[in-house]
Amino acid sequence: MRAKRVVGNWKMHGSLGRNAELLGECARRLGGQDRPVGVEVAVCVPFPYLAQTQAALAGTALAWGAQDVSAHAQGAYTGEVAAPMLAEFGARYVIVGHSERRAWHGETSALVAAKAAAALAAGLTPIVCVGESLEERESGMTETVVGGQLSVCIETLGLDLLARCVVAYEPVWAIGTGRNATPEQAQAVHAFLRRRLGKAGDVVSVLYGGSVKPSNAAALFAMPDVDGGLIGGAALSIEDFEPVCRACA
Ligand code: PGA
Repeated sequence: MRAKRVVGNWKMHGSLGRNAELLGECARRLGGQDRPVGVEVAVCVPFPYLAQTQAALAGTALAWGAQDVSAHAQGAYTGEVAAPMLAEFGARYVIVGHSERRAWHGETSALVAAKAAAALAAGLTPIVCVGESLEERESGMTETVVGGQLSVCIETLGLDLLARCVVAYEPVWAIGTGRNATPEQAQAVHAFLRRRLGKAGDVVSVLYGGSVKPSNAAALFAMPDVDGGLIGGAALSIEDFEPVCRACA
């Protein structure tokens, strides 16, 4: 049985004041009695706001998490944040291998897999992101690229640990561009990824990310292998995030 999930990725946005308002609205509209039924909603926030998020969302139906994690459990790694630290703040999720980290921070699939392993060891659920560039799509390389990215995780973690992960398909050309994959394009890649997941595919949620908004969420989430979304820009406004979450219910 695959859980439906909608996860907000705030990226490097927010301030204590703005977050208080947004988290309060999320708690009220998405975390209480009127919450969307049958969908797990979460927000992944910048590290400094984890304590604020924990305080604002504790006792609601909402979960929270971070956007990156160290592959190491502790040690002399200046600037890094370890998975057990995230766990101490009640985080359930951590995004690993987002395309922005692969592109701007040189993260390889091997490092992404190591980060996923570190997250799992601390009891967190890693959200493993995969996705192709426009050039790769146009040259017919989509399956080779996303299959390759996922394979490293499969080999490193094994299917039993992989079954405790979430996978997010985020075509790079659709992230923050306003240009989403069509539901059919998303479905084709999700079905491919699920086949790759083998028996773990029966339980792993495969989320779609890339310009999901209220106007396209329902059509994307209606696809049989799309189990929800990883939401960037539309997670920063409750007026957008709420309908996206409800579209998954
Ligand atoms: P977007 O970002 O919804 O703003 O396109 C999604 C993501 O990068 O996770």
